[in-house]
Amino acid sequence: MINTAKSETNYLLMTGATGLLGRYLMKDLAIANVPLAVVVRPSRRLSAESRIESIMESWEDQLNRPLMRPVVLAGELCEDSLGMEPNDIRWAIENCTGMIHNAASLSFVSTGPEAEPYRSNVGGTKNVLQFCQEAGIREFHHVSTAYVCGLRNGTVLPSELDVGQEFGNPYEESKVMAEKMVRGSDFIDSLTVYRPGIIVGDSKNGFTNTFHGFYAAVQLIHTILRNQDLVGETGFSDVYPTRINLDGTESKNLVPVDWVSAVMAHILSHDKLHGDTYHLTPRNAVETRTINAALCASCRFYGSTLTGADTHFEEHTELEEFFYEHIRVYNSYWRNDPTFDSTNTQKAAPHLLCPHMDYKMLKFLADQAIKMNFTFREKPVMQKADRAVVNAQ
Ligand SMILES: NC(=O)c1ccc[n+]([C@@H]2O[C@H](COP(=O)([O-])OP(=O)(O)OC[C@H]3O[C@@H](n4cnc5c(N)ncnc54)[C@H](OP(=O)(O)O)[C@@H]3O)[C@@H](O)[C@H]2O)c1
Repeated sequence: MINTAKSETNYLLMTGATGLLGRYLMKDLAIANVPLAVVVRPSRRLSAESRIESIMESWEDQLNRPLMRPVVLAGELCEDSLGMEPNDIRWAIENCTGMIHNAASLSFVSTGPEAEPYRSNVGGTKNVLQFCQEAGIREFHHVSTAYVCGLRNGTVLPSELDVGQEFGNPYEESKVMAEKMVRGSDFIDSLTVYRPGIIVGDSKNGFTNTFHGFYAAVQLIHTILRNQDLVGETGFSDVYPTRINLDGTESKNLVPVDWVSAVMAHILSHDKLHGDTYHLTPRNAVETRTINAALCASCRFYGSTLTGADTHFEEHTELEEFFYEHIRVYNSYWRNDPTFDSTNTQKAAPHLLCPHMDYKMLKFLADQAIKMNFTFREKPVMQKADRAVVNAQ
């Protein structure tokens, strides 16, 4: 370990700040006055600093109040020392006492152990741990997923991780490997693990900047109907019956990003809540028939029928074939979720109830994604002079 005394301000260092959950955490931690530094890679168009500035400016516009900026350290998880410049490494050693490891690849397919999602989730986590050990960062907050349970049934406890379960996809496996590595790191004094369900957009305004999972199904149906001229003169499509092999009663644990972030920020800013594992899952999981109904209403498609999970189709219609081919990557979610024990979370944040993910909410989220045309682009960063003019207005 590099022996350097820490400064008086204890910064938390966070990865994954530019992602869906990360941008909410940056806002919520700024509001809670938690000193934050972030490790961010540049994008094709923007430097690490500009990416963060753009996100923080959007929050300020939305909230109509100034927000404290995190310290930005340019880096990449898959490189030694997180690819950071020597000065930034020194700064982190002197100022950071805790890590929020939130970055991950959400790829559900893989070409091998050196490729994503293993590259960032396993290799990246290994580098993050090594960096923390060398920098004397011994408080660790790890963002895992409820789906480390793989294809288990029944009740899943926060204390359980590897019970020999099968995995639905490489992502789940890579997240188990990462959580195991974190749990096995004996230099960590305090470990808090967050396991969210399937994260969807903001329950209040429908914002999302990523479109996988729930959104992939919305986008697929929406795109098929619009691009293939299947919409009748009424603007609705019901002439192409599609059979979905689900019972309709399977449960899915969808959670809005604003809630996940609010609960995490609450736990992060209360030391006495550290050291536990939290399932960030809803009070009531939503049934697949509700998801189907909301999704069809948003896409104005009334031709789908849930035919039962055990239905076997001799032949598919052209539309069904296209649908199943493209949704295949999410096959592992085509099942009943287990029950996630979230007692810890309810005790830690009894005042933060997960919004009901009902038909109305899901339709709202799907409608917003359609309005966004399933794309999101960061706004260009305002020049300081322009910002002064806007603020003065
Ligand atoms: N979304 C869900 O449904 C869900 C559910 C349960 C748990 N989780 C967990 O929640 C966390 C946040 O997920 P999210 O939904 O916010 O994902 P996301 O929107 O895809 O964001 C992923 C973040 O990780 C960063 N990242 C990935 N690989 C990196 C690398 N090699 N080096 C540096 N940064 C890297 C990305 O940076 P770039 O912007 O540069 O790509 C981005 O900031 C993850 O740990 C995920 O496993 C997500």
